[in-house]
Amino acid sequence: MKYLIGNFKMNKTFFEVESYIEALSYLIEQNANKLSNIKIGIAPSFDSTHLSYIHSNRNFLFGLQNIYHELNGAYTGEVSLNVAIAADIDFILIGHSERRSLFNETNELINKKISHLEKTRITPILCIGESLEEFENNQTFTVLENQIKSALKNIEDHKNLIISYEPVYCIGNGIIPEASHIKKVVDFIHSLLHDETPILYGGSVSLNNIDILEQVDNLSGYLVGGASLNAAKFIELALRIK
Ligand code: 13P
Repeated sequence: MKYLIGNFKMNKTFFEVESYIEALSYLIEQNANKLSNIKIGIAPSFDSTHLSYIHSNRNFLFGLQNIYHELNGAYTGEVSLNVAIAADIDFILIGHSERRSLFNETNELINKKISHLEKTRITPILCIGESLEEFENNQTFTVLENQIKSALKNIEDHKNLIISYEPVYCIGNGIIPEASHIKKVVDFIHSLLHDETPILYGGSVSLNNIDILEQVDNLSGYLVGGASLNAAKFIELALRIK
């Protein structure tokens, strides 16, 4: 089983997400046989969360891009985990590099979010990745190990976890790493976790490079930004996944 998850980032109003969902559901239904081995998911922004509740009989996964780790309280502007639970959300992206770099999310905060999610049936998709400078200084593995160990600190049982490897220097610019680099990283993460946690790749995944990425035989799928914004093209991408 592989995953293809779309991260809409700060794009689309809930009206636009509504139309997208209509198109996506139809296309998945039409291609059901060819897509039987792939779980397709989308993570729109918070204003569309209620659409998860409305489409509870959906044929795709519905996720969020972020969450606050407390259930209630004086946290102006944050969204509670209770909202995600009430809306029947399937997964939540945690620690995306844009959250880390633009909104100062620390490994400690990321650990709190994952700890809280572990008490629910919602799957955390933990995003990790090195910067260009770290890559060039051969620090990839040290950085990833630190991100994973601190995110999972004091979490004994992480069977409901997905990891997405997203090198920061490959996001939104059409560049992907060498397939051999991704393969090494995925092996490294498996060796750290001693288990079969699904590991996705994210960063400029598109119809132009999906066949190259598909040569990385230990990947469990993809987290896609820009190339997920059009439902028809997103399904075309899904159809290219073996
Ligand atoms: P792009 O696919 O637009 O590079 O974004 C990747 C990403 O950040 C997915 O979370």
